[in-house]
Amino acid sequence: MNPNSNPPTRRIHMRYGGYHKRLEPAYDAELTGTDPDTPMGELMRRFWQPVCLSEQLGQLPLAIRILGEDLVAFRDHSGRVGVLERHCSHRGTSLEFGIITAQGIRCCYHGWHYAVDGTLLETPCEPAESRLKDSICQGAYPALERDGLVFAYMGPPQALPPFPEWDSLRLPVGNRLVPFSNVYPCNWLQVFENIMDHMHTAVLHNHMTVSDVDVQTSAGVSLEGFGDMPVMHWEPTRDGAGCCFVAGRRLPGGKIWVRITEMAFPNFLQIGSLVPSAARERHSCVALTRWHVPVDDTHMIIFGWRHFNAVIDPDQAGSPKDCGVDKIDFLVGQTGNRSYEEGQRAPGDWEALGSQRPIAIHALENPGRSDIGVYLCRKLLREQVRALQPVLPDSPVTQGPKDSLPMYSQDSILNLPQREGEDDRLLVMNTGTQVLAIMREADLLPSEKRDEHVRRRLDQLDGGAR
Ligand code: FES
Ligand SMILES: [Fe+2]
Repeated sequence: MNPNSNPPTRRIHMRYGGYHKRLEPAYDAELTGTDPDTPMGELMRRFWQPVCLSEQLGQLPLAIRILGEDLVAFRDHSGRVGVLERHCSHRGTSLEFGIITAQGIRCCYHGWHYAVDGTLLETPCEPAESRLKDSICQGAYPALERDGLVFAYMGPPQALPPFPEWDSLRLPVGNRLVPFSNVYPCNWLQVFENIMDHMHTAVLHNHMTVSDVDVQTSAGVSLEGFGDMPVMHWEPTRDGAGCCFVAGRRLPGGKIWVRITEMAFPNFLQIGSLVPSAARERHSCVALTRWHVPVDDTHMIIFGWRHFNAVIDPDQAGSPKDCGVDKIDFLVGQTGNRSYEEGQRAPGDWEALGSQRPIAIHALENPGRSDIGVYLCRKLLREQVRALQPVLPDSPVTQGPKDSLPMYSQDSILNLPQREGEDDRLLVMNTGTQVLAIMREADLLPSEKRDEHVRRRLDQLDGGAR
């Protein structure tokens, strides 16, 4: 990787032509870089970001690195969560070696004592009359906990947004949210945009048994039809602040399975059913909530919740106990917790994405029609980055989304008899886009009415056949 090299040949058509591709062009810094004072870094900082799991905040402080910043997270003995810059404002000792107190954290070196908001409470080595503590604050970020995840807001204080209340998080049937994190050794964008690359599911997640070693292919999780090449459609959502794919597949018995997955920029998405209910349930919604959080430019962590409820997991095939710090209960290859050989024999997303280089180089790609979603995602993200205006100190800007946000991610089964050849492909495509239109209609309704509306409209679409 050499951002300063001469522009090399992007595409060659020559046998044994490796010499002509020996130089690598620069990576796309505008979309991939999230350190302080980078364009994408500024956009990410306008949103609440998960930074660790609640269960990681115990007796000792936790050193974390988020958006290229070294931080320390802890829960003080009064129960308040602190996310502070990691190095002490006195002379730089790391607060990961600090002592948690009733009111914050005390640096181990000379005892400077900080509250969760960064207030310097004490400087015990200074004379009693010292006013030093009144002129210094440790860098601190607002933090909150939700369902086992710890979130921090790392943006301009005057732009603090409300926490996004997605309608899929609270359901009338009850919804258990189990937190998890998965660590990837690569740039955040390749893991995020992978979701728009839905065609890979028919290949990467369908070849996991080509192994002569005993590799578990899934934790009791398989989706009928998942290995078939879907009919795909992609489009922007949220006035360009998000995008989605619509994937249509034929299932036996004259059924069409429509899967929609939507992302909300800059790094949030939700995914539909992970268990066989996707192929059986008339309509089911979110099984997985994910934020794609940069650690630095070459490492990232997926933080999120596995959803467990009576609709998404009626057979209780999922496994809450297998979700947590660097583990998740579906599809092997979602974490780096296997041997290298296991990864080679049955690669998953962790191997496919982590090996695209530490930062994938877009200028070396040769995209096809199946990559439309990835390129749409990048284009819309770039527009979001470029549209971000600097926040003036006294402007009450809130960039975050508002309450009860609708999410289009879902799975539906329609009963529509199979047609011949291209006619059927068109039927599957049109059915998928009509389901998306129905999901969009529900935007206008109160969240508790959306599911009922969608089910009624699905009945109109296929005559309510079962
Ligand atoms: S370096 Fe932290 S108190 Fe001195
Ligand atoms: Fe995948």
